[in-house]
Amino acid sequence: MSKPRLLSGMQPTGRALHLGNYEGALKNWVRLQDEYELFCCIVDWHALTTMAEETASIADDSRQIAIDYLSAGLDPDKCAIFIQSHVKEHAELHLLLSMVTPLGWLERVPTWKEKREQLHIVSPSYGLLGYPVLQAADILLYRPKGVPVGKDQSAHLELTREICRRFNHLYGEVFPEPETILTEVPILPGIDGRKMSKSYDNAIYLIDSEETVNERVRQMFTDPEKIKLKDPGHPERCPVFALHQIYNAEAAPIVERECRGGDRGCVACKRELAEAINRALEPIRQRRAEYEAHPEKVEAILEQGAAKARKVAQETMDLARAAIGLR
Ligand code: TRP
Ligand code: SF4
Repeated sequence: MSKPRLLSGMQPTGRALHLGNYEGALKNWVRLQDEYELFCCIVDWHALTTMAEETASIADDSRQIAIDYLSAGLDPDKCAIFIQSHVKEHAELHLLLSMVTPLGWLERVPTWKEKREQLHIVSPSYGLLGYPVLQAADILLYRPKGVPVGKDQSAHLELTREICRRFNHLYGEVFPEPETILTEVPILPGIDGRKMSKSYDNAIYLIDSEETVNERVRQMFTDPEKIKLKDPGHPERCPVFALHQIYNAEAAPIVERECRGGDRGCVACKRELAEAINRALEPIRQRRAEYEAHPEKVEAILEQGAAKARKVAQETMDLARAAIGLR
């Protein structure tokens, strides 16, 4: 029996991933790779929709994401890790789907308005409007059972299903409707206690060294009412404690009790947390070092991934062309 297929994608824009990204999407993919046949697409064409004028770094950015995936523990023998632009069928299916997608559907997608406003795009491109059609092509090309994504992608997935139904209605059942598999993304606090986010400059990154992690944790905000070592604290208000619950889970009840009882100082508490985070990052760092020292291994993995993706993609395109009557 073959495993059910899943497809997901990530844009090569954000560059470095932080602990929040890792605990959300990536760790989930690593968990899913045993039960499913996972296709992990690095969507470089999507990145072009908002960076058409500064494309010089796009190939390197895509490799960086691949290294993030691999060092987080995605196994290239279990899943296909590939770059969208290496599998040209994405473009062909995008074109065919664009013929069955009414403009009105695209203009209603919330990200169409949001992106133009956030990025101050005065004259949006045809490609930006078509972003969700390209995403539908990414997905339908693999006829997957589901798509593991965060909540922010719900509208795109709903549109994918609408395009899917429209195509099947016009030409026959080519594409199974993919499910949205919502990834529970735990909200991790950053060093200032706000949600960990690249834009707040409060994140700890997967690429951070041991020293950087120690330093960032040392800078973390704590319970403002706990000033002296013997002051009783409120762990529920302390971002250090929130991270203990994730990275030092077994000891978290002790941390909590000692903090409340005034038996624990914040300096030592942070030192313990930094050690726990470093322990969790150690295997990731080792794998990263290995891939960074051998970029040819990354290239080979991306080629192998694209070959595996292409095989399924070509089967799908044969079905889609035949359904339409192209030959
Ligand atoms: N739009 C997605 C994002 O911004 C990226 C993406 C492109 C994607 N194609 C996809 C996600 C296919 C899942 C499946 O994160
Ligand atoms: Fe936070 Fe630890 Fe200090 Fe308590 S002892 S306030 S949990 S850093």
